[in-house]
Amino acid sequence: MAAPLVDAEYLKEIEKARRDLRGLMSSKNCAPIMLRLAWHDAGTYDAKTKTGGPNGSIRNEKEYKHEANNGIKIAIDFCEEIKAKHPKITYAYLYQLAGVVAVEFTGGPTIDFVPGRKDSTESPEEGRLPDAKQGASHLKVVFSRMGLSDKEIVALSGGHTLGKAHKERSGFEGAWTKEPLKFDNSYFKELLKGNSEGLLKLPTDKALVEDPKFRSYVELYARDEDAFFTDYAAAHKKLSELGFTPHSKAAKCTLLVQSAVVVAVVAAVAGLSYYYDVNRVK
Ligand code: HEM
Repeated sequence: MAAPLVDAEYLKEIEKARRDLRGLMSSKNCAPIMLRLAWHDAGTYDAKTKTGGPNGSIRNEKEYKHEANNGIKIAIDFCEEIKAKHPKITYAYLYQLAGVVAVEFTGGPTIDFVPGRKDSTESPEEGRLPDAKQGASHLKVVFSRMGLSDKEIVALSGGHTLGKAHKERSGFEGAWTKEPLKFDNSYFKELLKGNSEGLLKLPTDKALVEDPKFRSYVELYARDEDAFFTDYAAAHKKLSELGFTPHSKAAKCTLLVQSAVVVAVVAAVAGLSYYYDVNRVK
């Protein structure tokens, strides 16, 4: 499928879609599952074969029926409401936009990323997403296949600061933190506490405190939320761009729109001060 034309009109549409996504998250409390959707579309990437990744293919029945994607159809359907209002925006971009908005909307860091992702109808084979019942070496194999490091594994696992597991979807039950609609560093604090009252720890979460290299990042993020936010935003941007090289035209267009806004603001300020001066003279 061809890449979308990222012009000023497309960028305006994206701003409207952002607003609609915020409204949806507010009315449906669905930020966590929207973040899980973005991650599951992107997390199939294989750097060697350059297949999978954030290309919207998770909307194919074949893929959303993979066991790891149980429940994800709820988020796909929420996104359909936005897609119906903004048909120009690709699914690939919309799902990643939903992930970024989910993090920002719940109090997390701003994630910088550019539009232009193409849609694909080709789904990867089942089994590329991590298995929650396994440990550190499995996480390293799966994430290094995507081209992501140990530090990025720990930072991204901080996404479990949001939401909960559902017995009927994954076999696990419960939230990781006491405030599952707030994006902060409490996931890491709870991990270090060990057995905390009724909160969930998947085997892959526990692996982060058992492996010494992972643990050093868990300790850093538990004591320094700014460090977590900085590393999370960088890792999330990378995840959302796996296999995607931003088109220079898209970047140029973003710059053009930004420059136009600056020029408009300067002109407005100049106009106002002229008006003020003229009126003061009178
Ligand atoms: C490190 C490997 C990971 C494993 C094994 C894993 C596994 C899981 C499992 C089993 C669930 C519960 C699903 C359910 O029952 O509804 C879940 C939920 C969730 N995951 Fe992960 N995950 C991983 C990484 C990530 C990453 C990288 C992110 C985001 C950056 C993320 C975001 C979420 C969110 C937000 C939920 C809650 C969804 C909801 O409330 O409906 N996960 N994950």
